[in-house]
Amino acid sequence: MVRSLIIGCGHYLPEKVVTNHDLSAVLDTSHEWIVERTGIHKRHFAADGELTSDLATAAAWDALKSAGLTPQDIDLIIVATVTPDQTFPSTATIVQSKLGCRGLAFDVSAACSGYILALSTADHYLRLGSMKRALIIGAETFSRIIDPQDRKTYVLFGDGAGAVILRAENNPGNRGILSTSMHSDGSYRDLLYTDGGPSLTGTAGYIRMLGREVFKHAITKLVDSALETLAHKNIAAEELDWLVPHQANIRIIEAIAERLNLSPDRVVITVAEHANTSAASIPLALCKGVSDGRIQPGHLILHEAIGGGFVWGSALIRW
Ligand code: UT7
Repeated sequence: MVRSLIIGCGHYLPEKVVTNHDLSAVLDTSHEWIVERTGIHKRHFAADGELTSDLATAAAWDALKSAGLTPQDIDLIIVATVTPDQTFPSTATIVQSKLGCRGLAFDVSAACSGYILALSTADHYLRLGSMKRALIIGAETFSRIIDPQDRKTYVLFGDGAGAVILRAENNPGNRGILSTSMHSDGSYRDLLYTDGGPSLTGTAGYIRMLGREVFKHAITKLVDSALETLAHKNIAAEELDWLVPHQANIRIIEAIAERLNLSPDRVVITVAEHANTSAASIPLALCKGVSDGRIQPGHLILHEAIGGGFVWGSALIRW
């Protein structure tokens, strides 16, 4: 049996840090409101001229180093992003050229759930035997699509990139990606979207969100998805070592953990440090949990995320 193993992870956060206090100097908001409603303390913004592909490439080098591989060892690159450098070519092909390697490279667009979609897509390629080693990157420059006049969204997002390397393994034992589930429902597309695009306006537009509505859907859909993914493998939520969720809002994360009967010390939380980095948030949190030694070989990890569309899903991994 072939399974996909995660054999390395990497991250990159731009140098510029923007605190809640910085935002409250230019917007009708406060550090207290942002912390109480979201758990966010600060975020990173890319410098002028620093592109999504730059963030993605930096995270990719970090992941390659941790896996002990070179770009030539990779035959599949998938970048999850909704803030690509250009409409085309894909950011993945730009990363491929910056790394100097060949193979297949493409982007997936599923907003905040893009990383799980990319992971599950790569997992299918690897298990079918057509690819051996995949580089999966979640990378975003949301600072370019948030409206500086809109306090309801401007305070929520940041820039960053996280990456993992997957290897197809013939005798994985009980390790690897055990199960994934993805769903979408386009009838919710007006709850979270950008008000522009190449075909609609010829511009990227700004993010718009009905936050309270998204909040409610996030909790119910993500709990259902988590239980579905666990049920595929007949595993109870209580058996999880770590929930490594999308980092949009501490209240959403805590509500999901509570419904899954997981204590807060089994959840990797990074939202305070870099806000919502969309497709980058799960690999950033994963890297944090691995590098500080919390996530150990054999641990059972659950990822979950929801984003514009809606698209939502989860992934169960034995580290
Ligand atoms: O990653 C993709 C998925 N996205 C999410 O999961 C985000 C889901 N939604 C949320 O996280 C929350 O709904 C928000 C953090 C966006 C908002 O929190 P909330 O508790 O739902 O607040 P609200 O939208 O109900 O707004 C409460 C009040 C409003 O004032 P009134 O109408 O009660 O007078 C807002 O105008 O807070 C006001 N408000 C703010 N006040 C200070 C909204 N944004 C701000 C702000 N600073 N930045």
